[in-house]
Amino acid sequence: MAQPVLKKIAIEDMRPGMYVVDSGLSWLEYPYLYMKEGMISSQVAVEAIVAEGYSEAVIDTELSIGISRGGESGEEALSRDLDALPDFFPPPPIVSVAEELDKAKFVYSDSVRYARSLMEGVRMGGAVDLAASTTLVEDIIGSVTRNCDALTGLSKLRSFDEYTFSHCVNVSVLCVVFGRFLGKSEEELRLLGLAGLFHDVGKQLVPTAVLNKPDKLTPEEFAVMKQHPLLGCKHLYGQEAGRSMEQAVLLGMLEHHEKYNGTGYPRGLSGSRISEIGRIIAVVDVYDALSSRRVYKAPMHPHKALGLMYSMRGKEFYPGYVERFIKCLGIYPVGSTVRLNTGHVAVVAASNPREPIQPLVMLVADKAGPIVPRRLDLSGQYTVRIESTLDPVEVGIDPVAVLENAA
Ligand SMILES: [Fe+2]
Repeated sequence: MAQPVLKKIAIEDMRPGMYVVDSGLSWLEYPYLYMKEGMISSQVAVEAIVAEGYSEAVIDTELSIGISRGGESGEEALSRDLDALPDFFPPPPIVSVAEELDKAKFVYSDSVRYARSLMEGVRMGGAVDLAASTTLVEDIIGSVTRNCDALTGLSKLRSFDEYTFSHCVNVSVLCVVFGRFLGKSEEELRLLGLAGLFHDVGKQLVPTAVLNKPDKLTPEEFAVMKQHPLLGCKHLYGQEAGRSMEQAVLLGMLEHHEKYNGTGYPRGLSGSRISEIGRIIAVVDVYDALSSRRVYKAPMHPHKALGLMYSMRGKEFYPGYVERFIKCLGIYPVGSTVRLNTGHVAVVAASNPREPIQPLVMLVADKAGPIVPRRLDLSGQYTVRIESTLDPVEVGIDPVAVLENAA
C-alpha cells in the first residue's frame, strides 16, 4: 500500500505549509473539523482557524511542505499490523460475483427504497417496522453469504444522489460483511445489520432548523445534533417493536459516534466501555461517509479513506478494528478502479485477504485505450502490481458493468 497520505491532526499541531483536504464528512456531525481545502499559508491563517473554533483537520502529507516523514512509514506499520492479526477467513463465495450481482442489485435498490420510507416515516413520528427491517437484513445476509463482493461493490458504486438513504444501507451491508469477517454468528449478523440500518434514524428527529442550517453550527446547535444517537434509540424504545428489540441493536445505535479516546458523543465513553457493536459501526460509518460520492463532491477513494482511518487507529477507533476492517475489505476494495505499473487500467473484481495488495482484477484498458476485458490474478504476479487508484468517472469506466462480466 502506498503510504497513507491523509492524516487527521489536532488543530494545535497545524503549521503553515500543511495542505488541508476536504474529507467530505458531514459538517453537521463534524462541525469542528476544518475542511477548507488548500495550503495553510501562514501562522496568521492558523490563528484565524483556531479563533473560529475548529479543533481538527485532515491533511495530505504528500502535498504538505516541511513535514517530517521520518521513522516507520504507514505502509510498513500497516503490513506489520495486518501480518500480526490472527488469520481468519470467512467461508469462500458460493457463486461468482457476476452471478450474484443480478440478485444483489435488487437487494440493494429495494433496501435503499425501504431506507427512504423508514427515514421519512420516522420524521413524521411513525413507528419502525421491525419485521420488514429484519427481512431486508436477512436478504442482505443471504447475498453477502453467497458472494460478499457483489453488495460490497454496489455499496460504493451506486445511489450517490440519495446519500442519506444509501448510507443507512451501506452501513448495514458493510456491518454484515465485517461481522462475517470477524466470525460472528448469523444471529449476531442480523443484529449488526439492523443496528447499521437504524444507526442514524435519530437524525430525522433533530429539528430541521439545525439539520438544514447552511452555516456552521453554534456549540448549542451541535449539542442538539449530538443527541441524534440517543433520539434514535428513544424513538425505537418508545414503540412496541423497540421494547422487544435486542439491546445490542440499541447499543450499536447509541454508541456509533463514541470514540476510543473518549472524545465522542453522546456519552463520551472511552476504551473498553464502548460496546463491540458500537466499535464496529463507528468504523463502518466513517468509512462509508468518507468514500461515498456526493452530488457536490467526488468520493475519497476507498484506498485513501482506509489510509486516513488507519492514521486514526487507537485514537478515535478501538485498537485492532480498523486494521481488521482493512484486512476484510482488502487494501483495494472490490469495485476499485486502479492503474497497474504496466499502464493497464483495471477494476478490482475480488479481494485477496491473504495478500491484500494482490487482488483479482479485470483489465479494461491499456496505454492505447479500451481492450476486451480480461481477468488477471495479481496473486501469482511478481512483476505486475497496482500503481495507483483512479476515479472511475474521470476515466469513463462503469465498474458495475465490468464486474458483471467478471465470471
Ligand atoms: Fe450518526
